[in-house]
Amino acid sequence: MKVVTTLDDLRQARATLLGPVGLTPTMGYLHEGHVSLARRARAECASVAASIFVNPAQFGPSEDLASYPRDLPRDLELLAAAGVDLVWTPAPEIVYPAGFQTWISVEQVAAPLEGAHRAGHFRGVATVVAKLFNAFQPQRAYFGQKDAQQAAVIRQMARDLDFPVEIVICPTVREPDGLAMSSRNAYLDAAQRAAAPVLFHALSAAAAAYAAGVRDAENLRQLMAGIIDAEPLARRQYVSCADPVTLQELDGPIGRALLSMAVYLGKTRLIDNLVLGEA
Ligand code: PAJ
Repeated sequence: MKVVTTLDDLRQARATLLGPVGLTPTMGYLHEGHVSLARRARAECASVAASIFVNPAQFGPSEDLASYPRDLPRDLELLAAAGVDLVWTPAPEIVYPAGFQTWISVEQVAAPLEGAHRAGHFRGVATVVAKLFNAFQPQRAYFGQKDAQQAAVIRQMARDLDFPVEIVICPTVREPDGLAMSSRNAYLDAAQRAAAPVLFHALSAAAAAYAAGVRDAENLRQLMAGIIDAEPLARRQYVSCADPVTLQELDGPIGRALLSMAVYLGKTRLIDNLVLGEA
């Protein structure tokens, strides 16, 4: 596995890779969710590339950029074990040199949910992912369903800007108790960790209600809100039952829907989602 930091070295190393190339962008502190993307890319592509870059542009001023967990040696071991061929670990000045002033803003699909609560977040995500697509020229790029709106924003960006890349969305990998794996789970203390599966419990209860015939979007939102609110350590930021493509909130009877939520446990903000009505 080749590990490079400069853009020139990345371009040279990329030029030697056989296609199709599959890219798995990450912010590091890798867990089984990230590794599942690299493994899927390994199974589907001739070459596998990855990036590890804690992207300052997608963190708000009061968010956790400075404290975001990092462990590069361990990350590189995990990527090597997953069969990754090439890793780019750029410093912030390489991605955003002095004078940088070009940004990509996806509009409607980035506006609600995470976009409404994290101003500028998706602008930072879309811009860095566009730069990664330019730098790596992948034929396929692998992202997690865990960040459902991010996946929708990247799909939209790739389509609108004619990136010749297939966006592949991989299932959310969970801990045995249902908690979606996340680098941010490392922030939880023991009591918060014990309470954290409440997100998945709320989503699962809404999915069970849907399976039992409940189709009213507001009923499903209220059911999820009630379960989150019954957990004393959890503070609900939003619960949503939205169109899985447009991300617009649904009203009344639903067909397919994206259930999603953001919940604080102490200072740690967790998100999770499930899609209803899939084949
Ligand atoms: P990061 O949070 O490190 O996640 C990297 C990729 O792993 C994303 O596509 C994310 O959806 C996926 N992922 C995270 N947890 C997962 C889980 N439990 N199961 C399956 N996939 C999971 O998302 C980002 O980084 C950044 O926004 C990035 C796209 C790299 C741009 O900076």
